[in-house]
Amino acid sequence: MAQTGFTPLTYDDTVGQPLERRGGRAKVTGTAPYSAEWKVDGLLYAMPVLSMIARGKVVGINSAIAESMPGVRMILTPENVPRVKKVKPAGESNFGTSLASSLIPAAERNVYFVGQYMAAVIADSFEAARDAAMAVKLEYEVSEHQTDVFQSPADERPKDLQGEPPTFTMGDPDGALKKAAVQVDLEFKLAANHHNPIEPHATIADWKEKDGEPFLRVYDASQSISLSQMTLVQMFELKPEQVQVICKLVGGAFGSKGLMWPHSILAIMCSKVMQAPVKIAISREMMYGGTGHRTPMFQRVAIGADSDGKIESLIHSGFASTSRKDVYAEAFTMPSRSMYATPNLKLDQTQCRVDSQLPTFMRAPPETPGMFALEVAMDVMADKLKLDPIEFRKRNEPSIEPHSQKPYSGRHLVECMELGAKQFGWANRNQSPRSTRDGHWLVGMGMAPATFPALGFPTAARVTLKSDGSAHIDCCSHELGTGTETVQCQLLSSLLGIPVKNVTMELGDSTLPPGGISGGSSTTFSLGGAVRKAVDALKSNLLKLASTNADFKSLKVDDVRFAEGKLVGPSASISLVDLLKQAKKDSVAEVGSFQPGKDSKTANHSYGAQFVEVGVDEDFGIVRMRRMLACYACGTIMNAKTARSQFMGAMIMGVGHALMEETKWDHHLGRITNNNLAEYHVPVQADIPKIDVMWITDPDFNASPIGGKGIGEIGITGVAAAISNAIYNATGRRLYDLPMTPERFLKGSAHA
Ligand code: MOS
Repeated sequence: MAQTGFTPLTYDDTVGQPLERRGGRAKVTGTAPYSAEWKVDGLLYAMPVLSMIARGKVVGINSAIAESMPGVRMILTPENVPRVKKVKPAGESNFGTSLASSLIPAAERNVYFVGQYMAAVIADSFEAARDAAMAVKLEYEVSEHQTDVFQSPADERPKDLQGEPPTFTMGDPDGALKKAAVQVDLEFKLAANHHNPIEPHATIADWKEKDGEPFLRVYDASQSISLSQMTLVQMFELKPEQVQVICKLVGGAFGSKGLMWPHSILAIMCSKVMQAPVKIAISREMMYGGTGHRTPMFQRVAIGADSDGKIESLIHSGFASTSRKDVYAEAFTMPSRSMYATPNLKLDQTQCRVDSQLPTFMRAPPETPGMFALEVAMDVMADKLKLDPIEFRKRNEPSIEPHSQKPYSGRHLVECMELGAKQFGWANRNQSPRSTRDGHWLVGMGMAPATFPALGFPTAARVTLKSDGSAHIDCCSHELGTGTETVQCQLLSSLLGIPVKNVTMELGDSTLPPGGISGGSSTTFSLGGAVRKAVDALKSNLLKLASTNADFKSLKVDDVRFAEGKLVGPSASISLVDLLKQAKKDSVAEVGSFQPGKDSKTANHSYGAQFVEVGVDEDFGIVRMRRMLACYACGTIMNAKTARSQFMGAMIMGVGHALMEETKWDHHLGRITNNNLAEYHVPVQADIPKIDVMWITDPDFNASPIGGKGIGEIGITGVAAAISNAIYNATGRRLYDLPMTPERFLKGSAHA
């Protein structure tokens, strides 16, 4: 077995309980504080002026009409915009900042995409700002643009893929592929996607002089409050205590709020100029040019296997896009490093530059697209070998991770496939396509594994024990709607042995101990690690306080534990309330810090298996979901209810990725044409069938300080492949491009 990374913990049964998510009532009754909704006195409103060409230069800004419109206070242009210090964006600084793009809004004359913020109107009302922004006339020098990723030369290599080289070769993959008894060699084209969280991005910036010193408070819809605070300190050349960033609640993000986009910087500039609070609440339409997207991708997966179904060679290559000016590299080949045993492996990625907005991470950035291509190719191979897809995968179960040669921290993929198959009734599937009908629907089943790495970000948390026996957690982490507060209170309740109703948490404010980015399914893991450390420190502290009692005198910290509201030693226990009373303290507090290990001895991932049943109407190319089931192994599940919701939500998003979601450009104009929820299709209730979610309990303390590995993203991975594989089982037709819309079904894949 793998080496242990963290000392295992045992929990009482608070951890894992399906407790209701805290804050739910505030959300449904409309009192929850979303970033656009803070009441700030004297608030002004700003609206960016958007570029309407994809490439060129602004050579003139005519704002005479806009200036004369009622309620307009000021037009910000490159002429009068306040300077900010240049800092490296996240993509260039390895998340040293949270700045998405190096483009400074209203300061740049070069146009890199449609929807770039070339100027801004500040006004008394949202409507006045919006109307005047439309009246600002930009004069351009137009250059030729290219927004079609598949028409652009992908001749550039990304500098790195999440810190690793963009190419990797082990053995002789090309030679082994050629020699293999059975081969598949497939190409996949994936459309761009947009995140479309319910809450659009918004920023309220409040720049004031306080005692002759500037003070900047920012309410920002964000998945990275602490890093944004540090970034603003640099950009606006302020001291850390002069900048406060607040985000109490995020109404969904899926990665789109992971970095700070130009509207946030623009709101701050406007506020600085006006010395008044300024809000920028961007529209759904503007989110299609201003807050990132999942890049379109081209992928090739080639597999060579021997006649027993052992993989001899695996090749995964292709390209994604980035913007003309900045870099985001989508690491879609990553899952092929760790899914299957192979003696020969090649991963190779390039990128192209297009004249559109910068892509960014979107729910399971590399795994969602990467697992689609890999797991459809695996299904094609299983079919060629006449093996059940699960049996084929079992024959290629690795003992160590091929890429790193490390043992797995905890894998359980085979158990997930077997348990899921049993529950789903996989044995009833007919391996031959086109063998099941229900009226005019052709019915098929498909499966694919799911995977996501166990990631952590540096995080600090303060735990305070109060003399009334209650406890409190402070951390500048995020409530993305996933239950951060609920789950961490459960964890602390269990670690301290006090009832969960006596535990509270404050988050979402940069004056609290710094939290990591709430991305990469890392929050529960990282914040939990910090809480665990804080509790350890608290235990030493309390033991010191208790050591005036004879029973605790020369005890070591390992001799005592927390249980039922007491500090328990080998021969006696003392209630925490009495202990603080005796020490004459209202409270004791400790800060714990979690730092992810650099050199893990294990390959740390979660796994799962997706099963779907679809019905296909061949005449119209309509695919209907009939059933979905998944079984996951993500380590300790901290809250059965919020976990189930996370998994289920991701599976639903997977249906969107598979069948509907597609950002479309008019490449002639370089514009996105379906920049709204009427034309960009996401699944609605009627699209979604019965979903079953199950999991294996496998506390993984090799990978995680709390045994749980993060669950926010794994649920979307593998879904699109399972659906494509089910469509094949239903109809005998393979679909290699996403989304698998009726048009694509009827047309068939060009390279089928
Ligand atoms: Mo996620 S794409 O790490 O918010």
